[in-house]
Amino acid sequence: MIVIAGLSGSFRKNSYNTAVLKAASKMLPGNIKLELLDISKLPMFNEDLEGDELPNPVVEFKNQLSKSNALLISSPEYNYSIPPVLKNALDWASRGNIQPLSGKPVGIISASPSLLGGARVQYHIRQVCVALNMNPVNRPEVFIAEADKKFDFQGNLIDEKSKELIKELLQELVERIK
Ligand code: FNR
Repeated sequence: MIVIAGLSGSFRKNSYNTAVLKAASKMLPGNIKLELLDISKLPMFNEDLEGDELPNPVVEFKNQLSKSNALLISSPEYNYSIPPVLKNALDWASRGNIQPLSGKPVGIISASPSLLGGARVQYHIRQVCVALNMNPVNRPEVFIAEADKKFDFQGNLIDEKSKELIKELLQELVERIK
């Protein structure tokens, strides 16, 4: 079984970005699973917490990343940059001898009610991908602009163009896993 770890940059109950990951999970063939990781239990990064034993949620998070074959991030843009919850998760993943993201393929999506669809945050995430030696898919770039018009009341993605782009991105991600 191929596992793609999903990271949402938002904890919001009705988050468009979490909804994007749920939509993506339904587009994958039966032998590929998208596992949405819960990063809400990670403590705020502090080097003082890096003793002999890391906090349990960090150990579990890094194990889940190690077991996954790729990563799919969907994130909002906060003040033109990365929401702290996502940056915190990536910072924890970057520490220690075990580097679960090094060389790993990663797909990046952003969703926002704005006209730019969170375009600016994607380049900040890509910058962090360099630091973590990840293998980001460059194309297609998937910006879900005016996200408030692209989901139904149950949080299902109903925009065909966005669905097509996510499918293309997933295909490219799976190609890289192979
Ligand atoms: C935002 N939002 C936002 N949107 C955007 O396109 N560019 C931006 O720079 C910002 N900045 C920003 C800062 C903060 C602190 C918040 C809370 C929000 C709006 C944001 O895109 C919107 O709230 C999304 O709906 C958040 O994503 P989720 O929670 O729906 O996934």
